[in-house]
Amino acid sequence: MTQHSSIRPRVSLIERAAKAYDFRAALEASDAAPEPVRSAAAADEAAPAVDPAWKAAPFEGRLGRIARDQLAERGFIIPDAAPSVLAEEYRIIKRELLLDADTIARGRVILVASGASGEGKTFSAVNLALSCAQERDIEVVLVDADVAKPEVLATLGLDNGPGLLDALADPTVRIEDCLIRTDVPNLVVLPAGTARNEATELLASGRTKALLEGLIAANPRRLVILDSPPALAASPASVLALVAGQALVVVRADKTPERALRETVALLNHCPQIRLLLNSVEYAGSSRRFGSYYGQVQ
Ligand SMILES: Nc1ncnc2c1ncn2[C@@H]1O[C@H](COP(=O)(O)OP(=O)(O)OP(=O)(O)O)[C@@H](O)[C@H]1O
Ligand SMILES: [Mg+2]
Repeated sequence: MTQHSSIRPRVSLIERAAKAYDFRAALEASDAAPEPVRSAAAADEAAPAVDPAWKAAPFEGRLGRIARDQLAERGFIIPDAAPSVLAEEYRIIKRELLLDADTIARGRVILVASGASGEGKTFSAVNLALSCAQERDIEVVLVDADVAKPEVLATLGLDNGPGLLDALADPTVRIEDCLIRTDVPNLVVLPAGTARNEATELLASGRTKALLEGLIAANPRRLVILDSPPALAASPASVLALVAGQALVVVRADKTPERALRETVALLNHCPQIRLLLNSVEYAGSSRRFGSYYGQVQ
């Protein structure tokens, strides 16, 4: 462990994360068994193939430095640090998602969602992005699509700036110019952009799909990870499910009511592949951090 390892989980922070399954099928046949977990080796074999002749356009956005100390303090994966339990767990989750990146439609666009606030969407989206950025041949674009309550940039310690909403609202704003390249190789961040009243309508417009497809088209090595607002509290998550090929639904172990989970999955129904990530927050750090969370879910 490194100097950053002040967080010592008592138990695995992400439980049974690899047990992804088709929840909709499970709804139809309650005795359906979960899909077997595919091995990391199999995932490597299925790693997305990119034409070696392909060259990325020169980068035109901003540069930002990731606040590693802040990530460490809050219990996130720390780029370039020695392997940790959390990093290992996200490696398993990542493998499952990468297997489907090029085998299902829009598989390179991954929506991180949950029913309620505080279940760990931003935590999971950021950790997943940091984990995927370690892959060769992948450029991760982490999009702060929680436009009403954007937290990705603050979490990473990046300065805010123009982003998704600006590119959606103004066709003269190029999305590539809004990207922030970071000092973590292969990690690029797209801010939510300037807050505005018509944010939901903008996200619901056909331009969202076009912009996200444009991000992938500009660089076929890209994997787009969308942090989203709570699906049961706001409509953008279900809109984003239309453009994402894979969804990772974050569930707070022992806290998310089953009914809320079923409703969340139903709202994301347009997404071809839905997986569950059981996020446990057994945590040896300050317990105050989760005080508001427990209040909201029960
Ligand atoms: N497994 C975990 N280990 C440590 N901290 C965690 C874990 N999961 C979540 N947290 C922390 O719990 C808090 C709430 O999580 P997070 O912000 O990711 O939730 P969210 O679903 O994005 O909420 P919102 O819908 O309000 O944006 C954050 O401080 C986050 O860092
Ligand atoms: Mg969040």
